[in-house]
Amino acid sequence: MIGSVRIELATVDSTNKHAADLLRLTEVQHGTVILAHEQTQGRGQRDRSWHSEPGLDLTFSVVLRPAGLAAGHQFVLAQFAALAVRDALLRSGLQDVQVKWPNDVLVGPRKVAGILIQNELQGGLVRHAVVGIGLNVNQEASDFAGELAESATSLQLATGKPWPADELLNDVVEHYRAGYQVLLEGGVEKLRQQYLALDSTVGRAVQVEAPDGAWSGRAATVDEHGALWVEDAAGDARKIIVGDISIRVEA
Ligand code: BTN
Repeated sequence: MIGSVRIELATVDSTNKHAADLLRLTEVQHGTVILAHEQTQGRGQRDRSWHSEPGLDLTFSVVLRPAGLAAGHQFVLAQFAALAVRDALLRSGLQDVQVKWPNDVLVGPRKVAGILIQNELQGGLVRHAVVGIGLNVNQEASDFAGELAESATSLQLATGKPWPADELLNDVVEHYRAGYQVLLEGGVEKLRQQYLALDSTVGRAVQVEAPDGAWSGRAATVDEHGALWVEDAAGDARKIIVGDISIRVEA
């Protein structure tokens, strides 16, 4: 069961990397949660680093062995992680918690949590997945420097009071377990519908920033492979896959 095995580390380079190292060495049980109180080389999407403040945030990874999940559907594992974080944050009384494609969690316009999923594929299936979650819990404004000062927030900043990180971890794991159950029972399409109902990007005007230039359009849907479809100015639907492209939702 997800969360029944927990590995707690005082400090590690990256919980995702630690999970990958363990998977190379041993049979890591499905659902194992690896939590670090300090991450020295946290990784984010698009090969960025993930900034952590020891004792003030949550950094953990969940190892999954999703029997029979097609490689083409791997993004669903990250999508319902974002939904699990959102659900856990809603318990704090915050109303304006949004999921932004592909799997960021925002409070208002600011990012409060990010998810990095790293999968090993075999024979067209996901052999195992490492779902890494970074959640800003008790940082103050002064803990966010540089571009983060403009774009990041924490639960404490958003609510005006500190929160116990261990309870939040339990909540996120509980919701993630429930999401996984939906996957087992209802399949990918049911989760996609849940995700579409809550993703804040779909239906909005977006600015697509691709390596070959930026363009504007309207986010139309997220398909069963996790790709975002954006209608450009000419009305043509263009497929955006998670990777080198960033999406800015326009006000
Ligand atoms: C993002 O860029 O939004 C994804 C950030 C993911 C950060 C988490 S923290 C726990 C896990 N270990 C890592 O090195 N990264 C993920």
